Amino acid sequence: MGDNDTPSGSKIPTHVAIIMDGNGRWALSRGLPRLAGHRAGTENLRRIIRACVEFGVKYLTIYAFSTENWGRPREEVDGLMHILENVIDKELAELHKEGVQLRHIGRLEGLDPKIQEKVLNAIELTKNNQRLVLNVAFNYGGRDEIICAVRKMIQDGVRPEEVDEEMVGRYLFTAGVPDPDLIIRTSGELRISNFLIWQAAYSEWYVTPVYWPDFNKDEFRKALDTYAQRDRRFGGLTASVEDNPSHA
Ligand code: FPP
Repeated sequence: MGDNDTPSGSKIPTHVAIIMDGNGRWALSRGLPRLAGHRAGTENLRRIIRACVEFGVKYLTIYAFSTENWGRPREEVDGLMHILENVIDKELAELHKEGVQLRHIGRLEGLDPKIQEKVLNAIELTKNNQRLVLNVAFNYGGRDEIICAVRKMIQDGVRPEEVDEEMVGRYLFTAGVPDPDLIIRTSGELRISNFLIWQAAYSEWYVTPVYWPDFNKDEFRKALDTYAQRDRRFGGLTASVEDNPSHA
């Protein structure tokens, strides 16, 4: 398939979420340090953001740093923090020009104040962009997100009978973002790893053995083609995405 071919059919997912796994193994297989894998993964992210803009995906959520990743060696944690800072410093102008709106999901307050400020500035600068919403899950955990939501509801004095799915959705970090249609996990692991555990209720999954740094535009196109062939029923018998009014 040529580089300019778009994925099949009109069923482009509105929201794609990605567990960008396999950076470490990619590096190891080349005799490189793990951080070299994260840097190669960052390069690949640029390609996939471009592909999303080109293919008409409207929301992209990436799992960049989980609440569990604090348990990695200090050098790797510092390296991932540095990558986030670097991406903002070096890529923000270009992303803004491309019409990308940056959002953050996770606990910002757990990060270095200098990084917090950069993230907030990036969000402010790009807040009116419409071409692609890029949700960066950084210091994010699905269980932590639900705990934060419950705490906020209690603080706001929400009454038990007022709590429904719609309200929970409004209290999550992803408020205002439709649930992911497609979740991609690279490097072959078959688990959710605390990622979007509420929002993934009816998402389609695509798991590939390809390591994230090698998950290029063609691999992405394959994932979208596979998605286009899925019959989404949302627990019913025949309803498709377009037919299901509860699918925001
Ligand atoms: C999982 O691979 C990957 C991560 C924990 C980090 C993902 C980060 C990037 C791709 C950099 C982009 C970041 C930002 C902030 C834009 P792994 O290290 O668990 O791989 P392994 O399972 O092979 O060891």
